[in-house]
Amino acid sequence: MAVLRLSILILGATLVLGSPAKRQETTVYITQTSDTHVPTATAWDAGAVRQYPIHSSCNVTERAQLEVALGEAETLATHAKDHILRWGNSSDIFQKYFSNASPTEPIGWYDKIANGDKAGVLFRCDNPDGNCELEGWGGHWRGENATSETVICPLSYETRHPLVAMCGLGYTVANGATNFYFASDLLHRLFHIPKVGEGAVEHYAEEHDECLELAETNPEEAVRNSDTLQYFALEVYAFDVAVPGEGCAGKFTATSSGAVTAMTYAAASQTYAPSSTLSDVASVTSAAPTECHTHDNGDVHCS
Ligand SMILES: *[C@@H]1O[C@H](CO)[C@@H](O)[C@H](O)[C@H]1NC(C)=O
Ligand SMILES: *[C@@H]1O[C@H](CO)[C@@H](O)[C@H](O)[C@H]1NC(C)=O
Ligand SMILES: *[C@@H]1O[C@H](CO)[C@@H](O)[C@H](O)[C@H]1NC(C)=O
Repeated sequence: MAVLRLSILILGATLVLGSPAKRQETTVYITQTSDTHVPTATAWDAGAVRQYPIHSSCNVTERAQLEVALGEAETLATHAKDHILRWGNSSDIFQKYFSNASPTEPIGWYDKIANGDKAGVLFRCDNPDGNCELEGWGGHWRGENATSETVICPLSYETRHPLVAMCGLGYTVANGATNFYFASDLLHRLFHIPKVGEGAVEHYAEEHDECLELAETNPEEAVRNSDTLQYFALEVYAFDVAVPGEGCAGKFTATSSGAVTAMTYAAASQTYAPSSTLSDVASVTSAAPTECHTHDNGDVHCS
């Protein structure tokens, strides 16, 4: 800011009265923003980590796929945030998933995923806890063993779909699993990291119909419900970006094959029981495989 001293001439009021103009000199001070005084860039954000760290245990192919998928998770989160910033609670999709909750909280969660500091939020491809050997496991949060780490098992690379396939492959938001797309699967995994989800984003409701019910009964939980945040992000991306003005919301049907996928996923999610302490999580984790279910063809599905 610079203070400028200006000398200006003011014609006295006497002029109006027709008297001879009286010259009067007055000093006025005004403040003015001046570019030359904007502080030069400081090192306030030195050491910021802008990309999710990927462990050396990931081979070249796994790293490449993870980088793309994490980028897609950020894209999904960024669009969800942008949709809310533009439309707030006047959006039908906002109303559907968050009802009369304040838009501010979900904006914050999505922004953290996309723009929060990512130091220590590690993704790894080895199998330090042995869980990748369990049938149907696509990955897991390491819980008490390393709260900021996520293991992605080989199955994920074979089964998760890219965002560009949004609304394809028979997917609908209501009947597709939230881990159908690698991007939304990673949103879920990121919310488990304390630095991201703060232990506040949890599993308060899982299936699509339960999430819609949660919006009505408990909007304050809906805005911090992991599955709701995934469903909302998927639905606005489908409607605004992938198939503009149409999307693929679908209608939840408990008997559809998609619902089976969703149920399968819900079983796996037991691993991350909402209100449990970390030690509880570990014990639920070991019990989880027994909650997987067997399909007609003998396949056991957990995630
Ligand atoms: C939408 O937000 C405004 C401003 O906060 C609030 O007054 C209004 O009640 C909200 N409407 C609904 C339907 O939640
Ligand atoms: C943590 O490590 C122990 C011992 O290796 C293992 O039994 C347990 O399943 C791990 N916890 C998780 C959440 O993977
Ligand atoms: C990388 O790991 C995947 C399993 O996720 C494996 O199929 C692939 O052969 C590995 N690639 C290389 C180059 O080792």
